Amino acid sequence: MSFPTQRSQRLRSTSALRRVFAETRLTPDSLVAPLFVKGGIAERTPIASMPGHFQHTLESVVKEGRELAERGIGAAIVFGVPEAKDPRGKGAYDASGIAQRALSALKDELGDGFVCIADLCMCSYTDHGHCGILDESSSIDNDETIDLYGRIASSQAKAGADVVAPSGMMDGQVAAIRSALDARGHRNTPILAYAAKFASSFYGPFRDAAEGAPQFGDRKTYQADSANADAALRDAALDLEEGADALMVKPALGYLDIVAAVKQRFEVPTVAYNVSGEYSMLMAAAERGWIDERSAALEVLLSIRRAGADLVITYHAKKAAEWLA
Ligand code: PBG
Repeated sequence: MSFPTQRSQRLRSTSALRRVFAETRLTPDSLVAPLFVKGGIAERTPIASMPGHFQHTLESVVKEGRELAERGIGAAIVFGVPEAKDPRGKGAYDASGIAQRALSALKDELGDGFVCIADLCMCSYTDHGHCGILDESSSIDNDETIDLYGRIASSQAKAGADVVAPSGMMDGQVAAIRSALDARGHRNTPILAYAAKFASSFYGPFRDAAEGAPQFGDRKTYQADSANADAALRDAALDLEEGADALMVKPALGYLDIVAAVKQRFEVPTVAYNVSGEYSMLMAAAERGWIDERSAALEVLLSIRRAGADLVITYHAKKAAEWLA
């Protein structure tokens, strides 16, 4: 059978037609901006490996939040970088810790019209840089860690976090956080679970930003293996059973198959994290004139949305919102 009159190019022939017939749309409210806030600094500090990004002060983070909201971005994910670290990551659940202070300052400034997501992990708070606390043999003590995650979650919700996003990849973390939140009067605080988070080489620049690189070993015993899709989907299913309200896949670009599978299989809000290394790689090429930043970044974001992500966490959020205006 042939279709002599069928021509794919008809619907592409003008930019107006392409716009109207686009299957996937990119809007500022589908983008989430990561924000780093550091304790004890007088001025915001540029992050060398992430051009255009800063470790913020409490003042500058509020200003940045305001600018994001003005550009139509609907949410930010907040990472605290404490002044001092210790083996048990105490700053992570301190009521006056840097993340808690930033969350309440952002909420005071922006009110209910802007969603503040709190990243929930210990790697920037522990002196060894692992995402949990260690036992005598320097392995992660999973169960003690998830008890502390419950404390972190409650302190973040109390400070004003609209959503908590556990990224430490401990077993049972979602259930532990759900019960801690419920017990402390935060039944309505949703959990965005970093459900399929792979042990990736693309987190390097983030570890500069959050000062959370492991001081020994790596994260391969708790983060997912890049070779494994089934195992990642099993983890995601467990997170849902434990009470996750939305699922995250991270990184995004090398894992679009996982984004698509999570969206199709679970039919829950699906978030993809276009991570630091993916951003820095694009920026490095753009700085050399090897690719065009604007068209490449928008193409990346569109691809992640096309794969099935409802929301994309991206270091290009602010610029993309300007480009899309
Ligand atoms: C903390 C955390 C990491 C990222 C988000 N939360 C780093 C890691 O797991 O080492 C990475 C984000 C990025 O690279 O942009 N557990």
